[in-house]
Amino acid sequence: MSGCAGASLAADLPSIRVLATGGTIAGAQARATEYGYRSGAYDVNSLINAVPNLGKLAVITGEQVANIGSQDMNDEVWLTLAKRVSAVLAESGTDGVLITHGTDTLEETSYFLSLVTKSDKPVVMVGSMRPATAISADGPGNIYNGVAVASDPRAKGKGTLVCLNDEFHYARNVVKTATTSVQTFQSLNRGPAGVVHTGKVVWFEPMDRRHGNASEFSVDGLDELPRVDVIYAHANMSADLIDAAIRNGARGLVIAGVGDGNMTTPALDLLTKAAKNGIVVVRSTRLASGLVLRNNEVNDDEKGFVASGELNPAKSRVLLQLALTQTSDPVRVQKMFYEY
Ligand code: DGL
Repeated sequence: MSGCAGASLAADLPSIRVLATGGTIAGAQARATEYGYRSGAYDVNSLINAVPNLGKLAVITGEQVANIGSQDMNDEVWLTLAKRVSAVLAESGTDGVLITHGTDTLEETSYFLSLVTKSDKPVVMVGSMRPATAISADGPGNIYNGVAVASDPRAKGKGTLVCLNDEFHYARNVVKTATTSVQTFQSLNRGPAGVVHTGKVVWFEPMDRRHGNASEFSVDGLDELPRVDVIYAHANMSADLIDAAIRNGARGLVIAGVGDGNMTTPALDLLTKAAKNGIVVVRSTRLASGLVLRNNEVNDDEKGFVASGELNPAKSRVLLQLALTQTSDPVRVQKMFYEY
């Protein structure tokens, strides 16, 4: 094939920027027979070069934004990554972004980006459940499929997508469900956005909640995020950790409630007092699926609480952090939980 033809083929391909942040996908075992590994051992160019035929899908460039295990993800990296994503997508020569990330907090970072990225260009996040040095490492296949989704014109305007193990999910819906399984990412209340197999992309349901350009949230001018803590409910729960969160400056509290967003009376009483004092309280559930709706066993109208709907505690925390950049009015925040 002539160089000219090769060049015309490259000219026809989309340009995808890979932004790497670390995680198992870049991880390495000390020895092949060992279960343990170190996250973030490989840089972005090593990840790209390990994927055969990637250059047939898109023109790929890489950038190392961070190199951490995602259990260490923090607001500073979120803000840096979000601003970089928007800047890269604003470049006329860039058609989409692929982000490599650890899986532990991938569901949170993806939702955050989906709520603040002001572009319709595709943003796809991938991770892996096995390190790059493992037998049957899943990272290269996830990167290949992630670039295929990011290169698909139908991915425009869909918000941030999460692509692993031949499925891709809307950031709002997807959660990590299993500690080590490659099939760990599920959208338990709705199902995947679609499937992708060796780069062939099939779309299912559209995304019906606000995101991207339709979102009121922005990171412009933000150099920190409001503190929001998640409190896990359980039998015989005291109010001590709620008190500690309040004393440490939490402006929002998310309760990972038992059952349908419930908690012990001492916890309920202190949360009610906190809500009356201007802290926004969101009732979510520690359960894997199901919705928490208003005024079930807890009278949210009377307590001044917000019901999380479909959002689990981790997703609720992301939305509440951004909501608090706009308001501390629980009525306005509840409307945001209905819309995003
Ligand atoms: N260190 C964890 C992380 O970076 C491992 C999980 C993974 O990436 O698969 O999230």
